[in-house]
Amino acid sequence: MYVCLCNGVTEKHICAAVEEGARSVADLRKALEVTTICGKCASCARKHLKSLESESCAKSA
Ligand code: FES
Repeated sequence: MYVCLCNGVTEKHICAAVEEGARSVADLRKALEVTTICGKCASCARKHLKSLESESCAKSA
C-alpha cells in the first residue's frame, strides 16, 4: 500500500527505513522524502511508525 503518493513511498519503504534506524516522521522525511510535497501522508506515516513499534515489518508489509 502507498503511504506517500507524491513520492511513491510504500509500506515496504517505511519498513526498510525503520530497519535502518528511522524513528520519527522527520527521519522518514530525510530518508524517503515523505511529507515533502503536499504533506497529506504525515498522519499515515506516523501511524505506520507506531504500528512498527509493536509489529515486525513482515507482518505489516
Ligand atoms: S502524499 Fe506524501 S507528500 Fe504528498
